[in-house]
Amino acid sequence: MRIVVTGGAGFIGSNFVRHLLRAHEDVEVVNLDKLTYAGNLENLRDVESDPRYTFVRGDICDAGVVRSALAGADAVVNFAAETHVDRSISDPQDFIRTDVLGTHTLLEAVRELGVGRYLQVSTDEVYGSIERGSFREDSVLAPSSPYSASKAGADLLVLAYHGTFATPVLITRSSNNYGPYQYPEKIVPLFVTNALDDEPLPVYGDGRNVRDWLYVEDNCAAIDLVLHKGEPGHVYNVGGGNEVENLDLTRRILDLLGKDHSLVRYVPDRPGHDRRYSVDCAKLQALGWAPRTPFADGLATTVAWYRDHRTWWEPIKSGEFRRYYEQQYRGLA
Ligand code: NAD
Ligand code: TYD
Repeated sequence: MRIVVTGGAGFIGSNFVRHLLRAHEDVEVVNLDKLTYAGNLENLRDVESDPRYTFVRGDICDAGVVRSALAGADAVVNFAAETHVDRSISDPQDFIRTDVLGTHTLLEAVRELGVGRYLQVSTDEVYGSIERGSFREDSVLAPSSPYSASKAGADLLVLAYHGTFATPVLITRSSNNYGPYQYPEKIVPLFVTNALDDEPLPVYGDGRNVRDWLYVEDNCAAIDLVLHKGEPGHVYNVGGGNEVENLDLTRRILDLLGKDHSLVRYVPDRPGHDRRYSVDCAKLQALGWAPRTPFADGLATTVAWYRDHRTWWEPIKSGEFRRYYEQQYRGLA
């Protein structure tokens, strides 16, 4: 089976490429990635000499590049996206371009070439915030940020291609992932690496927002299962079952590293900050999936990985990231 993975040089995509090569002997993987600030070929150093793996540098908005990368493919899994909510607030343009137009470019190529399966990697953020209970796959979409709105737009296009052209699409909507190789703008790697350097941890608002944490390998297993066993035209929620307040998460990280809680700094809240995310995953569980990684184990493994991989994150944090950080967290001592 020849699978094109877009955005395979990013966090979840690189874990998924590694997962595919490990889980399936007879797979060929083509990784199509533009290598934006978030794409990093270091994430796949250990598999780059595998003869079943090919890297193509290219933009999912470029129809010519997409068509040639998808020629002969049995399936496409689209991870490529702009993904950071805070950047979507300060500069939304690239989110609309990549997340919406890029998805459309892929759908057109899938339709033209008759690719057998297209899986769109989406997010629970398309449903918006929920105070109590959990969202189901048929819940109304009510995204809050330019990021989640662009992901919701993409989801609607994907479903429209199924309804209109019978394109064999699937969508997974997962909760917040954590694990190795996550770009250190997101809360877990940002707070772990700041704490390792005895730098402050900037908690937005009152720190009581809730995210449901999913270990990245559990998400990779879910995406693989949906790709092979999911029903075309269907959406599958993927949740970790670990709903944790940001402040609790922050304290756990500090405790795992033996650092003092005085590193916590409360900073002004994110505009439009969703209070809580929660998804009902019964539909995916009926296909035979369950998250395997208890939160305490996954977090300990993740913290240890960043502690042991300074050579991975130090160059990132001193490059483009530095300018972003100083802008985003102005005045943080
Ligand atoms: P990431 O930001 O780490 O990586 C994104 C990758 O996409 C990078 O390698 C980047 O170079 C590539 N890319 C960006 N624009 C591109 C373009 N125009 N053409 C080709 N490649 C491009 O992202 P991630 O956290 O790994 O997320 C992957 C996917 O999963 C995204 O679609 C995201 O919306 C979704 N998702 C992420 C989470 C999470 O917690 N990280 C949760 C739910 C869903
Ligand atoms: P993030 O990792 O950006 O993921 P998302 O916004 O997609 O859920 O943020 C996770 C939570 O952590 C969210 O409630 C915002 C909060 N947060 C902070 O409190 N401080 C930070 O510096 C960051 C990046 C996030």
